[in-house]
Amino acid sequence: MAATLAFTLLLLSTISCLANALSSNYYDHTCPRLEYTVNSAVKKAMMNDKTVPAALLRMHFHDCFIRGCDASVLLESKGKNKAEKDAPPNISLHAFYVIDNAKKAVETQCPGVVSCADILSLAARDAVALSGGPTWEVPKGRKDGKISKASDTRQLPGPTFNISQLQQSFSQRGLSMEDLVALSGGHTLGFAHCSSFQNRIHNFNASLDTDPSIHPSFAASLRSVCPFRNKVRNAGASLDSTTTSFDNAYYKLLLQGKSIFSSDQALLTNPKTKALVSKFASNQNEFENAFVKSMIKMSNISGGGQEIRLDCKVVR
Ligand code: HEM
Ligand SMILES: *[C@@H]1O[C@H](CO)[C@@H](O)[C@H](O)[C@H]1NC(C)=O
Ligand SMILES: *[C@@H]1O[C@H](CO)[C@@H](O)[C@H](O)[C@H]1NC(C)=O
Ligand SMILES: *[C@@H]1O[C@H](CO)[C@@H](O)[C@H](O)[C@H]1NC(C)=O
Ligand SMILES: *[C@@H]1O[C@H](CO)[C@@H](O)[C@H](O)[C@H]1NC(C)=O
Repeated sequence: MAATLAFTLLLLSTISCLANALSSNYYDHTCPRLEYTVNSAVKKAMMNDKTVPAALLRMHFHDCFIRGCDASVLLESKGKNKAEKDAPPNISLHAFYVIDNAKKAVETQCPGVVSCADILSLAARDAVALSGGPTWEVPKGRKDGKISKASDTRQLPGPTFNISQLQQSFSQRGLSMEDLVALSGGHTLGFAHCSSFQNRIHNFNASLDTDPSIHPSFAASLRSVCPFRNKVRNAGASLDSTTTSFDNAYYKLLLQGKSIFSSDQALLTNPKTKALVSKFASNQNEFENAFVKSMIKMSNISGGGQEIRLDCKVVR
């Protein structure tokens, strides 16, 4: 009797474990045109707005780092509950409409079947590939969560983080130092507002105004677009010199003191991460392979999602 019970429990836990594991062919029978449909929505949006790929990649990162990849980043505030979207790190989070459009198109083909979390993960992959980066098979089968809290965004790594803070933030999510260096390469796309790097160019510390690890002419250019008490809304700088193309320029610039955030520069303060930066700077293939591996790991951070939302902005 006890043996039968133990066997039943073992069987049940095996089944639920298998049920939770993501798989590349998850929607093959239930929504065969899913990937094509998401890709079309991303392509269409990119034609009108070159900033879309960067936005989708960052959106997926924020989603996965808070409550796992459960589309909590897509939910809107409701009543007294302020959602992640409405917390300060939302600066520059945008292009949510791309996910909404993709979801609408998917719903007409296979209603109530595909999670918003999976759509976001596919869209982030397409954003990278359509920007000249690598492509990969996205494991699918995530469920959408029902909770999104502005206060949770305090768990995101900040641009002023040093290497030990970054390492802690990543390791709490099962990500290694190699994942940290490879995923920071996401900063090959997109833009930063002055407020995200002002710590490096004004009142750096009690004796220096500017972070001495920034290349002097680069520091001067950052200071000119972001003067002290900057008044220009949306002023800022590109994260690398080729902001719409997914390449390894970020690492090359980082080695020259031309990175934007303290958290980028911090990758040079540890021998292991510094060696990886040099490797990725000199070999685009090594970077792409590592990036793909780490994206699949980051996209696998499991959330407590339970449902398939019909509208990505609201719980069912
Ligand atoms: C290592 C820790 C990280 C920190 C501290 C960090 C911080 C930031 C900050 C502060 C911004 C600029 C926000 C603004 O001023 O508008 C930004 C932008 C961005 N981040 Fe990160 N990030 C990190 C990791 C990642 C990862 C893992 C990815 C994706 C793989 C990523 C992708 C991006 C992209 C694409 C942008 C540009 C967004 C746009 O232009 O719309 N970041 N990041
Ligand atoms: C960011 O949050 C502010 C409120 O703190 C809100 O007004 C703004 O619409 C949010 N931005 C996005 C992109 O959701
Ligand atoms: C990183 O910052 C934390 C918090 O400010 C500090 O305790 C720690 O000593 C710093 N680590 C390094 C390597 O600078
Ligand atoms: C300011 O930063 C520089 C470079 O990191 C450092 O050498 C110096 O000791 C710091 N000064 C103070 C007062 O912390
Ligand atoms: C994804 O997470 C599951 C556990 O949730 C784990 O068994 C699996 O090895 C992970 N896959 C990857 C590629 O990290």
